[in-house]
Amino acid sequence: MSTLRDLAEEHTALRPADIDHLHRIAGDWQLLSDLSFADLLLWVPVDGDGTFLCVAQVRPTTAPTAYLDDQVGRIVGGAEVAHLEVAYRQGRIWREGDPVWYGDVPARHEAIPVRLRTGDGEAGEVIAVVGRDTNLSTARTPSQLELNYLTTADDLAQMIADGTFPPPRHPGETTSAPRVGDGLVRLDANGKVTYASPNAQSAYRRLGYASHLVGEDLAKLHRRLASDPLEGTDAGNAVLAALRGEAPPRREIDARGATMLTRALPLMPAGVPIGALVLVRDITEVRRRDRALITKDATIREIHHRVKNNLQTVAALLRLQARRVSMPEARVALEESVRRVASIALVHETLSMSSDEAVEFDGIVDRVASAATEVAATEVTVGMRRRGSFGVLPAEIATSLVMILNELLLNAVEHGFPPADEEPPAPPPVDTPRPEAAVSAPRPEVVVSAHRARKQLHVTVTDNGRGLPEQFDAERGGNLGLQIVRALVTGELRGTIELRNCADGGTEAAIVVPLARGTTDRLTGRAGPL
Ligand SMILES: Nc1ncnc2c1ncn2[C@@H]1O[C@H](COP(=O)(O)OP(=O)(O)O)[C@@H](O)[C@H]1O
Ligand SMILES: [Mg+2]
Repeated sequence: MSTLRDLAEEHTALRPADIDHLHRIAGDWQLLSDLSFADLLLWVPVDGDGTFLCVAQVRPTTAPTAYLDDQVGRIVGGAEVAHLEVAYRQGRIWREGDPVWYGDVPARHEAIPVRLRTGDGEAGEVIAVVGRDTNLSTARTPSQLELNYLTTADDLAQMIADGTFPPPRHPGETTSAPRVGDGLVRLDANGKVTYASPNAQSAYRRLGYASHLVGEDLAKLHRRLASDPLEGTDAGNAVLAALRGEAPPRREIDARGATMLTRALPLMPAGVPIGALVLVRDITEVRRRDRALITKDATIREIHHRVKNNLQTVAALLRLQARRVSMPEARVALEESVRRVASIALVHETLSMSSDEAVEFDGIVDRVASAATEVAATEVTVGMRRRGSFGVLPAEIATSLVMILNELLLNAVEHGFPPADEEPPAPPPVDTPRPEAAVSAPRPEVVVSAHRARKQLHVTVTDNGRGLPEQFDAERGGNLGLQIVRALVTGELRGTIELRNCADGGTEAAIVVPLARGTTDRLTGRAGPL
């Protein structure tokens, strides 16, 4: 289905600022739909000849819809949209006219021009029309609630025509806004409650307010109710701001173990502040769940922290052991184990600082790489570079990948640039200076590069060292290090690895790992000699 923006860009000459305003309307108009007991359709003119395109639609949650079919994308001209044309051309709300029939559903049509105010606050031009269409087949008996809703709806409709509704958004408001059905309070210009819906009344009761809201000064009531005086002041000031015609951010009030979210909206049809609308929602349960999740989050982080500590302890024990053994081979083996364990600890350290089970991997790679340079022979300095980015990786991929990179980087440093006495052919005598050779000899360097393409992570570790030994079996050859690498790549990560000599000397290991979900199933992924 096309989005509002796609449709508007394809069929109209609306400017980006106009389209943004239409988005704001569609983001906030459930309120108007619910208060009106009506469907709202957002229409934009197409050719200037009285043809309109429907770019968005919302159904009321308080009443039956007038449209069973989706209207978005419809282009209509002629009599059916003549009322939209009036609202658009004359810039006024159109509400005269007889019921219209859709199949066997009678509906009342109204049209509200949408104005975008200019930067300096002047009423701007009409950019679109909101059709407000009420299904009349199940007309409600006019109750207190209905009359109050409809009056408020008319105020908001006028504000859409004035360009003062919807109010600007406040950044970072994540909890979904209270809806009409959650609880609605209407205030007069003095801030006194003139109407409170039954749900609003109940929400305030949970905060400890037992009497009737009508006649109460709501700002004062908020200050009185909140257990935290600062919070009470904020919630009270929000009401006062709305009465002045401003659009304050949402506020929460905690009292007696209950939490209520409030959203205060100014009511100022035709620019005259006549009061405010306060939507309230009891979010006690939501907050309780949030708190539980935060605790769970903290627990998981704490566990990662402990795993990291334990791994570092294991590494330290192995290191101690390595210093005590005299057999060189045993010592090397223990030192390698130290590095393997330490590399896994890096992932858990990163996880212990993040809020989800995924890690920003570049930082980990850089640390493993710099640790790898330390095993270089004393007379060689190996440069390490990373090209591209690994991005954020799920924990299970990260743990395998860090071990793989650890092995490959160590091999590149260790075997690509062996100490001089191992290097065939024998190095030239030190006392024979050969400056031109020294200048042209490439600096020892290892490059780790990563990029993502088609849900795959492509990683290469390239060195400009002496290359793989002759007759090396790139498919199967190697010792424990390469065995670990192959087992993790093909088993845990379900990926592929290729080892090859580079054209201009040196070795390259190329790994491709699928990133799609389900490819790293821990249970089925275990394979190979590990
Ligand atoms: N980047 C490289 N450059 C040259 N030779 C390499 C490279 N990587 C691996 N090799 C060769 O592959 C062999 C096996 O490596 P590995 O399985 O990690 O065991 P180890 O590092 O303990 O020798 C190495 O001994 C080396 O000969
Ligand atoms: Mg190795």
